[in-house]
Amino acid sequence: QAPSSTPALVIGSGYGAAVAALRLGQAGVRTLVLEMGRLWDTPAQDNKIFCSTAAPDQRSMWFRTRTEAPLATFLWLDVVNKDISPYPGVLDRVNYGDMSVYVGRGVGGGSLVNGGMAVTPRRDYFAEVLPQVDAAEMYATYFPRAGAMLGVNSIDPAWFESTEWYKFARTSRKAAQNAGLKTVFVPNVYDFGYMQREAAGTATRSALAGEVIYGNNHGKRSVDKTYLAAALGTGNVTIETLHHARAIRRQPDGTYVVTADRTDLTGRVVETREIGCGRLFLGAGSLGTTELLLRARETGALPALDAAVGTAWGTNGNIMTARANHMWDTVGANEATMPALGIDDWDNAANPVFAEIAPLPMGFEHWVSLYLAITKNPQRGTFSYDPATDSARLNWTKAQNQPSVDATKRLFDRINLRNATIYRYDLFGNGTPFADDFCYHPLGGCPLGRATDGYGRVKGYPGLYVTDGALIPGSIGVNPFVTITALAERNLERIVAQDLAA
Ligand code: FDA
Repeated sequence: QAPSSTPALVIGSGYGAAVAALRLGQAGVRTLVLEMGRLWDTPAQDNKIFCSTAAPDQRSMWFRTRTEAPLATFLWLDVVNKDISPYPGVLDRVNYGDMSVYVGRGVGGGSLVNGGMAVTPRRDYFAEVLPQVDAAEMYATYFPRAGAMLGVNSIDPAWFESTEWYKFARTSRKAAQNAGLKTVFVPNVYDFGYMQREAAGTATRSALAGEVIYGNNHGKRSVDKTYLAAALGTGNVTIETLHHARAIRRQPDGTYVVTADRTDLTGRVVETREIGCGRLFLGAGSLGTTELLLRARETGALPALDAAVGTAWGTNGNIMTARANHMWDTVGANEATMPALGIDDWDNAANPVFAEIAPLPMGFEHWVSLYLAITKNPQRGTFSYDPATDSARLNWTKAQNQPSVDATKRLFDRINLRNATIYRYDLFGNGTPFADDFCYHPLGGCPLGRATDGYGRVKGYPGLYVTDGALIPGSIGVNPFVTITALAERNLERIVAQDLAA
């Protein structure tokens, strides 16, 4: 049982939250972390912690009766999704009208379910998105610090060229190169040495057994194994799971009180707790942190919160698309689940796109090249508070995603033209080759320098901080977790030195 008051409280346990927990713990600050999901460390009856992607069970998704996988169909058949029983599973899909957002649930947040791609953004684009942040300092100090802590590593190029497990990526690379496009290797937090042992048959398969979006049983350096393990190691940090933070208020003495529902594995609220804290760090992710602050502002609990809370939200320009290769351009029956290559056309000022070459591991040859395109979409969403449901509603229309679809189409039309290939229409359940109704990279909602100061200190409320992807205003041009982590490192260093010393 956690104390009813703590010097520092962190909400959530993804990247930003984990950095806060570690750096506070190291500074000698007693810190409590509240996570709405469960701790994923105990094997179930099948001796596995996480279920497989091919045969998902209750562990797969957050309180669902049927899975909602990103790729809904294959050859228009509903073969992908399965009935499951409701349970605090590891992947959630938050559905808001025209846009759904995939997020991780559990100790480690998104790091439990993501593709591990650890990409440092282009410096010029970073400076464009976050002009108030000293880019020189970020690239000299905080990106390297984040990369070292996260366990970022690179694939052995010789192995990449020879293994059947990356045939799919080599085939996509060839098609891109035929169109005059550049591809780049992308670092990952999955241990590529472990993966080579999987391929050699000397280690239990995880990335080579289709595991990714419902968790990896091996090989993945998720933040529960890196930052959070180190945070617990300081002896100052405690993590409480199945605690859903609902409300924040401020006491006359300037401390904060968080109301949190403790739930059981059926989702039933077994206790509603009030936890006081001197300092409160919001790391509940773009959606979670924004909802907490929006609710606090709109219900009058924290009325002085800035009007920028609930603004500057974006999808990082995410669009999935797929092409059909020629019969002779096989992708192989065996595909690793961790992407290792991207098509980098961000330099093309007329149509900047960075497209991750994504796996589609079905266990048989299907000739499909799948991609997650990251585009530069200027459209931004906002959130409104809905008192009837006491939740945040995303204002984002299908039309706002059209710039992303158009940019993706321009790039892949070029690839199709040069290779005389066509799109696949059967994968996304919408009759088009473009998945424009979901994203994996929600960013913004509490933009740095607007809802907060330049270090994530919430305007108007000393001792209240945002430390996650909510700070980044909607786009970063590459997969975002390295940026989220590095920015949190920068902000925490300043906050520990200035605010905690005071
Ligand atoms: P994050 O979402 O990680 O953590 C928030 C945590 O807070 C969660 O554990 C949540 O349960 C908890 N929480 C929320 N509300 C709460 C509340 N009210 N009370 C208590 N707890 C609460 N990125 C990348 O760089 N490379 C990649 O390859 C991929 N691939 C990818 C695949 C898939 C399937 C997904 C879903 C996402 C990715 N991403 C990715 C995105 C990446 O995972 C994401 O950007 C980060 O996890 C965001 O980190 P944050 O710290 O902002 O929050």
